[in-house]
Amino acid sequence: MRILVTGGTGYIGSHTCVQLLERGDDVIIIDNLCNSEASVVDSLEKITGRRPVFYEADIRDREALDRIFSAYDPEVVIHFAGLKAVGESVSKPLEYYENNISGTLTLLEVMRAHDCRKMVFSSSATVYGTPASVPIREEFPTGGTTNPYGTTKLFLERILTDLTVSDPRWSVALLRYFNPIGAHQSGLIGDDPTGIPNNLMPYVTRVAKGTLPVLSVYGNDYPTHDGTGVRDYIHVEDLAAGHVAVLPCMKTPGVHIYNLGTGVGYSVLDIINAFERSTGVKIAYRITERRPGDIAECWSDPSRAAKELGWKAERTLEDMCRSAWNFEKSKA
Ligand code: NAD
Ligand code: WQD
Repeated sequence: MRILVTGGTGYIGSHTCVQLLERGDDVIIIDNLCNSEASVVDSLEKITGRRPVFYEADIRDREALDRIFSAYDPEVVIHFAGLKAVGESVSKPLEYYENNISGTLTLLEVMRAHDCRKMVFSSSATVYGTPASVPIREEFPTGGTTNPYGTTKLFLERILTDLTVSDPRWSVALLRYFNPIGAHQSGLIGDDPTGIPNNLMPYVTRVAKGTLPVLSVYGNDYPTHDGTGVRDYIHVEDLAAGHVAVLPCMKTPGVHIYNLGTGVGYSVLDIINAFERSTGVKIAYRITERRPGDIAECWSDPSRAAKELGWKAERTLEDMCRSAWNFEKSKA
């Protein structure tokens, strides 16, 4: 297939491009490189032996999109491009709404003009707000997002759903990711946030490497098995495989909603222990206050994706820790 991947040099996008290139798809990446490096394209070629087409372009740039659609006529768009830092979105709401929402609207308009009406969209478990119970199923209510980033995902889910109602030729997949961690087994691509990481695993690997002195564990008084926050961590290669698995659905118009998680929750202390066990490296940590906006626990019921897509996360927590560490060590 001819697949346009927005945000394809980013963390999840690059792992998905590997699998698309490996199965023979024609991959066209557009990314403005605001949170990734052009060298990822070289890594993709090293891993797969195939080089994707790459454009340094912004999804808000209608003329650039128009030229790319005219040149490549993509059949499907997998749309990863977006800003994703929760804390930053609170201080820069306009930038987040503008980039994520206006950017997606421009992309959708260009898609429609070029008769391309199939989009796989990166959504997030954040759209469930504070869930009434776990595990979370797709039919749980969405809403109650606690930051502008999460609200962009909620609004975009709504916009995409409205579009499929207005015109039955559209087919949209809303993939609700839980907590992707880990890296490609080659160690050539992975999660490489600039500055001090907000997310747990990149923080852990930097403490392991000695780049950061100590991990703050945000609260140990949650109603969970050891008091620390519980999440559904999923290996990024399993998550990438979920995008490949959903592609056959895109032949069927309408909205296709899937949780992409493992269905198992691990606490922060479970992660530290698994990391130490699987890598042999000790993690210095201290318990601190809860982080504002955090919820106690969040994990998925991924059975719809298993039943309808035949997709299941296969890699273990140890695989996630080892691959994240392998990537951190191999970075310059
Ligand atoms: P990432 O920042 O590594 O990748 C996003 C890519 O989009 C980056 O390469 C960035 O340069 C690019 N980009 C941003 N705005 C752009 C624009 N206007 N035009 C062109 N390119 C632009 O993030 P990721 O972790 O790979 O996330 C991919 C998607 O998945 C995002 O939409 C994110 O919100 C969503 N998501 C991520 C997580 C997570 O924990 N990583 C969880 C749920 C959902
Ligand atoms: C995981 C656990 C923290 C860092 C966020 C977004 C969500 C989604 C994924 C995109 C929590 C604890 C963390 C640290 C810690 N992104 N923690 N010390 O908060 O589940 O989800 O990323 O859609 O929208 O909110 O992930 O990795 O930040 O935290 O103790 O230094 O680790 O409290 O329990 P989170 P996370």
